Amino acid sequence: MDRLDANAIGFPGVEVRVAQRCGSTNDLLLEDRSSGPVLLAAEEQTAGRGRRGRRWHGTPGAGLTFSLALQVKRPARELAGLSLAAGVALSKALRALGVARAALKWPNDLMVDGAKLGGILVETRGAGAATRAVIGIGINCRRDPGLALRLGRTLAALDQFLSPLPSRNDLLKAIIPVLLETLATFEAQGLETLRGEWEALDAHAGQRLRVRLAGGRVLTGVAAGLAEDGGLRLNTKHGMRAVRSGRVVSARPA
Ligand code: BTN
Repeated sequence: MDRLDANAIGFPGVEVRVAQRCGSTNDLLLEDRSSGPVLLAAEEQTAGRGRRGRRWHGTPGAGLTFSLALQVKRPARELAGLSLAAGVALSKALRALGVARAALKWPNDLMVDGAKLGGILVETRGAGAATRAVIGIGINCRRDPGLALRLGRTLAALDQFLSPLPSRNDLLKAIIPVLLETLATFEAQGLETLRGEWEALDAHAGQRLRVRLAGGRVLTGVAAGLAEDGGLRLNTKHGMRAVRSGRVVSARPA
């Protein structure tokens, strides 16, 4: 099994740390007081967190789990776009590595052929004029049938698409520059210039979706890209709607 190594990952301008075991890399970086960018990768998380209060499960060595903390100067109302920007960066980096069908499920699940390959959890803390953002990413590297069975869902893993599978150090070396570049674009221009890129990576473009809204109601419509603020646009029988908080529960050709 390859081992994470901070020296091998080393990236100019980013303080790279490796934890053998921790609760959650996001939690550690949310508490961290460093002002510059910090990347923390963990061999094992004992309390990995997913979106909507869910757990992020992983078998040590089978996945890549890391968080990047950095300052982002954008108005608070625009920060929901950060996780979409991170999704664009991750899909682009994985496509460049050879995962040709890496795609995004709104808002930012990383998918291949309908199966989840990875997830992103962005959390922010106000810090004066700028906001400190922690971008947590989990990617399935090796197939883990036990985990798929426990979760009761089909999972994708990089070893299905990349042979040989790059070491996790090399994966990070490929992902970090794309992530930093995309976040710099977001900081300079907001989501606007990344919207088109997200839409080009949309796993469900033009498909008929059922979306469970935060309140429990289900909205059905045809996926029509992103609203300006990053909401999911759905062409419904009552006209165009934008979903800000919800979960895509099913998709089929329109
Ligand atoms: C999701 O799909 O629900 C988001 C999953 C995010 C998981 C990553 S693993 C590294 C970082 N630390 C955490 O506790 N969560 C994120």
